[in-house]
Amino acid sequence: MVIPFLLLLAYLFGSIPSGVWIGKKFFDVDIRQFGSGNIGTTNTFRVLGKRAGVVVLLCDMFKGTLATLLPVVFHVNNISPVVFGIFAILGHTFSIFVRFKGGKAVATSAGMLLGVAPMFFVYVMVIFTISLFLTSMVSFSSIAAAAFGFLGVLLFPVFHCPILANRDWLFTVLIVLLALFIVLRHRENIERMKKREENTIGFGLNLLK
Ligand code: G3P
Repeated sequence: MVIPFLLLLAYLFGSIPSGVWIGKKFFDVDIRQFGSGNIGTTNTFRVLGKRAGVVVLLCDMFKGTLATLLPVVFHVNNISPVVFGIFAILGHTFSIFVRFKGGKAVATSAGMLLGVAPMFFVYVMVIFTISLFLTSMVSFSSIAAAAFGFLGVLLFPVFHCPILANRDWLFTVLIVLLALFIVLRHRENIERMKKREENTIGFGLNLLK
């Protein structure tokens, strides 16, 4: 009984559309109407500025981390914390509060990794940062981090967190599926990249333009 309740709780945490709510409450702006229309961190930076962007980044990451802590707090040992993180990510992408639409899963996935496999989190963040410096594109860098995450989880079991030691296969399968899902969520960005119309940020070498 407690597991379905906690999974629902993880989904509800993940569903909190921080970008939409902060935009409406403090700026009287619905970020879905501007920029890429996405509800996530990047579009919040783009539409509402740095301060709001940082807050939304932290909120969206926190949702993933918090979900992975639920089984620890409630002493649930027979189901991997990764599964709770995945429920938060599903909440973020198919949020009950915004008609089952949502973000592209990047920040909440990062938060989930931070909670269950910190070394793996550092690995994908290094890839993301290098890519962002080279391309100035958050979307490309998110896809690059997902792609290297896909490879990394298959090639380097050392990244798996010790608390997941007996369940590495599940971590591997879920991370592989998550990486594919993140790429799929960036379909529109990929179309814009092909037309060389994708948004860039004012940081880095902008090598793809
Ligand atoms: O995390 C989302 C990011 O990769 C792309 O966001 O708003 O440029 O589509 P956006």
